[in-house]
Amino acid sequence: MQKLHHKNALITGGARGIGAAIAQLFAVHGAHIIIGDIDAENGTRLANNLGGEFVTLNVAKQDDWASLAEKYPQMDIVVNNAGITGFEDGPKPHDPENCSLADWHAVHAVNLDGVFLGCRYAIAAMRAKGAGSIINISSRSGLVGIPMAAAYASSKAAVRNHSKSVALYCAGQGLNIRCNSIHPAAILTPMWEAMIGDGPDREQRMAAFVADTPMKRFGTAAEVAALALLLASDDAAYITGSEMSIDGGLLAGSAASPGG
Ligand SMILES: NC(=O)c1ccc[n+]([C@@H]2O[C@H](COP(=O)([O-])OP(=O)(O)OC[C@H]3O[C@@H](n4cnc5c(N)ncnc54)[C@H](O)[C@@H]3O)[C@@H](O)[C@H]2O)c1
Repeated sequence: MQKLHHKNALITGGARGIGAAIAQLFAVHGAHIIIGDIDAENGTRLANNLGGEFVTLNVAKQDDWASLAEKYPQMDIVVNNAGITGFEDGPKPHDPENCSLADWHAVHAVNLDGVFLGCRYAIAAMRAKGAGSIINISSRSGLVGIPMAAAYASSKAAVRNHSKSVALYCAGQGLNIRCNSIHPAAILTPMWEAMIGDGPDREQRMAAFVADTPMKRFGTAAEVAALALLLASDDAAYITGSEMSIDGGLLAGSAASPGG
């Protein structure tokens, strides 16, 4: 059964990785897909394959959102997925003592301002129908401290909290607009490739990254997409303001858990 029939869905950062998997699954379920990304080449290719549309969107830019709102004044589902680690151009100090203000702002501009602007657009675009689903992709890094990626962790924690403010605001306005956050841990996407690398040791390095994950493996983008589908569909009609971890059991325990 198609769960998103006749729905319009905007997926930011949908050109690859988790966003692309969400776009693919939502299309299978009958949604009309709009991919908003800075990567026009991959975004256009995928949108064409899915019978959807691509729009150039830098989520950190208010003007880009204004243009998008003109083109798409109505939307049923918005997935605020676009995000960066801040390490795209190589390693940099992002610890609380040495992170530069410019690097701190750059990460928050995409990960936090982008989600704020995306939620603001979504509420306006869903208000006419009085219903919709906003899904914000946060991270397990929004739930725990990450000393060497403090800007990323701060931005993702703020996404978690802002999702709850949006949920309460919409419910308070009498709108059936739900807003939830998803918190993935290690999901194998291009975001990880620079850290994993190629060569004969690849499998070993991958195993090392998930050594502390109870399920001892990376998650897949398709598994995150399945959770996003649940939150986007009417099956989740009573779920708002929630945070959902998808992490192979990582956050179920801690160093304080006795035994192993
Ligand atoms: N992969 C993981 O392990 C993991 C874990 C937790 C959270 N996340 C979050 O999931 C989301 C997707 O991650 P991914 O692994 O698929 O990443 P990815 O790097 O594979 O894809 C990110 C996409 O976002 C786009 N993008 C980057 N900056 C943008 C901007 N300013 N405006 C619009 N689009 C932009 C990129 O072009 C790309 O298509 C991110 O928010 C990320 O923080 C990922």
